Parts: sequence; C-alpha cells; structure tokens
Amino acid sequence: MPPEAADFEDPRPVSGYDFRLLLRLLPYARPHRALLAGSVVLVLGITLLDLSLPLLMRHAIDRYIAPAGGGAPAPEPAAALQGLSLTAAGFALLVLLQFVFSFAQSVLMEATGQRIMHDLRLRLYAHTQELSLDFFARNPVGRIVTRLTGDIQNLYELFTSFLSFLAKDLILIAGIAAVLLALDTRLALVTFLVLPAVAVAAVHFSRRAREIFRALRIQAAEINTRFAETIGGIRVIQVHRGEARNAERFDRLNLENYRTGMEQIRLLAVFLPLIEVLALAAVALVIGYGGSRVHEGALSLGALVAFLSYIRMFFRPLRDLAEKYNVLQNALASVERIFLLFDTPPALRAPPPGAGPRLDRFEVLSFEEVGFAYVPGEPVLRGVSFTLRRGGTLAVVGPTGAGKSSLLQLIPRLYDPTSGRILLNGIDLRDWPKAAFRGRLALVLQDPTLFSGTLRENLFHGLPPPTPAEEARIVAAARLERLLERLPAGLDSPVGEAGGAVSAGERQLIAIARAFARNPEIILFDEATSAVDSETELAIQEALERLLEERTAILVAHRLSTVRAADEILVLHRGRVLEVGPHAALMAQRGFYFHLHQAQVQTGGDRGP
Ligand code: GTP
Ligand code: MG
Repeated sequence: MPPEAADFEDPRPVSGYDFRLLLRLLPYARPHRALLAGSVVLVLGITLLDLSLPLLMRHAIDRYIAPAGGGAPAPEPAAALQGLSLTAAGFALLVLLQFVFSFAQSVLMEATGQRIMHDLRLRLYAHTQELSLDFFARNPVGRIVTRLTGDIQNLYELFTSFLSFLAKDLILIAGIAAVLLALDTRLALVTFLVLPAVAVAAVHFSRRAREIFRALRIQAAEINTRFAETIGGIRVIQVHRGEARNAERFDRLNLENYRTGMEQIRLLAVFLPLIEVLALAAVALVIGYGGSRVHEGALSLGALVAFLSYIRMFFRPLRDLAEKYNVLQNALASVERIFLLFDTPPALRAPPPGAGPRLDRFEVLSFEEVGFAYVPGEPVLRGVSFTLRRGGTLAVVGPTGAGKSSLLQLIPRLYDPTSGRILLNGIDLRDWPKAAFRGRLALVLQDPTLFSGTLRENLFHGLPPPTPAEEARIVAAARLERLLERLPAGLDSPVGEAGGAVSAGERQLIAIARAFARNPEIILFDEATSAVDSETELAIQEALERLLEERTAILVAHRLSTVRAADEILVLHRGRVLEVGPHAALMAQRGFYFHLHQAQVQTGGDRGP
C-alpha cells in the first residue's frame, strides 16, 4: 500500500470487508486462545443452565402444582410439597452455579481483552515510531493519538462485549429455538411469525447505525485534532487574537457532532421499544394460541409457562443487539483505522538487520546531484553535490528558505532524496542498515525539542545512565553551568515539554550538551536563527567549538565567525549550490558569499569573537 493510503478518516463505507477485518484480528487473539477456550466452555455451561431453568419450572407446575388429569396420578399433598421443595432447591442451586460461571466467564473475557489491547498498543506504538516524517506531516497529532488510545479501547470492548455476545447470546437464541420446537412445534412456529418483522427492523437499524457510528468516529477524531492543534499553537492563537474565530470553527464541529449524536439517540429510541413491542406480540401469540392448545389438551400448563419465560429470554439478547451493534460498529471502524496505521510502511526501506555493509569507521560522506522535495513538483534541493572527509568541517550558508535545514535532515535519513544519491564511504545510504549511521551522528536542530522530564533525562535520553564524572564533563563542555545555577534542582529540575522553563539560547545549549553526551563522530548542527544575549551567544560559540574538536561536522551557520572557521563553505540559494570553497577563496570571488558577508558585517550581524 502506498504511504498516501495512511490518510485515515476517509469516510468510505467499510461494508464487504468487515469480516476480513475481524479475521485480521485473529493473530492477536491466538496467544490467548487458552483463555478464550475457557471462556467458550463457560459460556456453554451458562447457556445450558439458562435453558434448564424454565424446564424445571414446567416440571414443578405439571407435576406438583397443576397436574394434568390424563397423565400420571396426582401425588399425595405431602409428597407434592416435598417434590416442590426439592425442585425449588434445585432451582436455587442452578441459579447459584450460573452466578459462579458468569463471574468466571466475565473475568476470563476481560483478562483476554486487556491482554490483547496491551499487545496491540505496544505494537502500534513501536510501529508509529518508525513511520516517516511525511506521515506525521499529513496526519495531525490528535488523529494519531485517537488511534493509539480510543481505537484500541474500542477494540477491547469488541472482545469483551461483542464477542461474548456472539458466543453467549447466539448460542442461547439457537438453544431456545430448539427447545421451543421440541416443546410444541406448532406453537413455536406460530410464535416465530414475529421474527421476519424483527429481521427487517434489525437490518434497517444496522444500516443506519453504521453510517452514524462512522460519522461519530470521524467527528471525534476531528475534535481531538482541533484540541491538539489549539494547545500546540496556543501562543500564536492568543497573541494573534485568534480565539473567537477558532471557537467558531470548533463550535461548528461540535454542533455537527451533537447532531449526529442525537440521530443515534433517535435511532435507538425507535429500535429498542420496537423490539419490546414485537416481544410482547410474541407473548400475545403464545397466550392466545398456546392457551387454546392447553384447552385442547395438546399442551400442558407448565409447558405454556416455560414457553412464556423462554420468549422473554429470546428477546432480551435481540434488544441488547442494538447496544452490541454500537460496540461492533465502533470497533470495526477502529480496527479499520488501526490496520491502516499498521499497513503504513515504515519510513525507510533498509536492508534487514544484520544484512548490509558494516560501518567500521566513517571516512567520507558525499552528495551526488541530490534533489529533494517535500511535496512532489516543488523541489527544495536541486543538484546538490559536495564531499566531506573525516575530520572536515562544512558550513552551509544561505538566505532563509534556501534549504539548509532540509539538507541536514537527509543525512540521518529523516527523509530520503528524491533524486541523486548520498554516499557514505562510497555506499548509498539506503544500502546501509538504518542503525549503522544514525548511531554515529548527533543532530542539533535549529529549534531543539525538549521532552517532558528532568534536564538529566533530556540530556541522556536513550543512553545508559551516566556517571557523575561524565555528567560534570558534559555540563562543563556544553557551558551549562549558568543554567544549572539558575535551576533549583540542578540536573533534576523538570524542563517543560515545550521547553517552557528554559530560554531559546539555553535550549540550544541543552541540545549541544545532548550531542556531547552521545560522543558522536559526526555533528550536524543547525544554528538557531533567533538572537540570544551576547553572554549566551559566547557560551554557545565556545561549546560548539569544543564539540567540533576532532569531529566531522556540517554546520548550518548564520554567524560569520562559525562560518569562517569551516574548511569549506557551501553557499545555498533556492536549493542550488551557488558557490563552494574556503572562506578566503569565496571572498576573493566577490560573489554571493562576499555580499552576504559584507551585509552582515555592516549590520553588525556577526557578534562572534
Ligand atoms: P532557515 O532555517 O530559515 O534559514 O531556512 P532553511 O534554509 O533551513 O530552509 P528549509 O530547508 O527549512 O526550507 C526550505 C524550503 O522547504 C522552504 O521553502 C520551506 O517552506 C520548505 N519546507 C521546510 N520544511 C518543510 C516541511 O516539513 N514540509 C514541506 N512541505 N515543506 C517544507
Ligand atoms: Mg533552517
């Protein structure tokens, strides 16, 4: 399936492959088949108990309460009393057994559901982490989060509520039908006259319900998305006074959701009483026709009473069907989207682990006529070529939007080039195992992200716990002392998930420290464009210089001091390489770089040493 297919929430109807979707769930249930089998056995037991209760009732009535004239002679009053007590005790025993079985069955079923949900969420999370950045660009956070939480919860309900319905209620319905036919075939057939009406109602209901549930799910995901985006962009919204317009848009969405919800309620409000009416019609048929059968002597009174209680039992699951159908539809919509996510292939094609060349030592990285576009037809990089050897430093400069950050992202394969090749030690990056190269490099982003957690967790994210000496070394190297003095709990201070507690300059320092902690061979550094105070600026400069010692680096640089020190400078303009060479050579050319340099010197843009 092409990655485009992962734009889930497209409202096409699922019909036709509902069943196949359920089949795809089987592998997830398989590890828990022992639990499921236990559950099914218990269900059979419960059904047998359910079916036996009215029969016991018939026995009590026909034998001891109102014995039929023609049959066996009526028992003595004392014997009748004893028989009745025994029957009542038997009845109580069966009810008790039924309680125990039902309890055990629902515990088993819930446990199975929990386990399946647990597995599935784990796999989905792992899969999501591997997906391409394209995918995340196309699918808002709210949607993905709905997938990981709400949809899996729905699946859980599928297992606990719907599947136990299938097992329990369908067996029960079939069992009742069989017993009714055995008790009195003619009366049973007359009673079944209401069934076509039930079928018509159920089919109509299920058609409508499917549409409504689908719409509800899509709207819920949209609402989540809107919330997530609003919270993510709250600063911009508040500053630009966008609240009112946002609220209006949200209101429309919310209203739509409300209307669909009301439609669902209306549908249920018709369906439930309708089934009730049909059940009563069946009761009327049994009383009318069954009563006359009793008079004819074709049916015993006990059998008639048993018949009536079977009818109640027969319609209860049918009425519950509406509710179960909710669950099924919700779950199917969820299953569908969960599998859409699973079917989205991981970002990068890479040789299977273990295959492919082994990277012993980084020697050379080269771009050969690399072209790249986020959106087909809108190239961001065109024909970019350069070579960077071990220990070298390449600075990339150019106006904003030139494609500098995009170029950096190709190296750790956050994206793959659309044309041309990137070679590592002469071999295409795509032929290396994914982990081979990523482990060797550190990427300092233009706008570094901090995860919610402590400063220490942020620095050593994904690394084994550092020793105190190591911590001290990294703090010193990255010039974090000043920040640490300010933070009350030092490295244990929490830094907000959006880095709220630290400034932009400090965030850049933290990102540098993060790179230090990894001790990478290659540094990819995307210098922040935001201005910081000159003291932080100096700290960043020093930290960067230390980070670059003995290492290979590609620096996207705005500060001329950083640029000047590079072995080679790549001037990028609208995705093309305009000039390339060391500082002195480029200055001598008096081209684009020369003018860029002059402009910055004049405006005091170079605040470096
Ligand atoms: P500055 O950081 O401002 O100096 O610019 P830059 O040289 O780093 O530019 P960058 O590589 O970030 O962007 C180059 C072009 O790609 C711009 O026209 C951006 O609008 C576009 N672009 C950047 N990121 C994305 C993205 O995630 N999706 C899409 N569709 N376009 C992007
Ligand atoms: Mg950039």
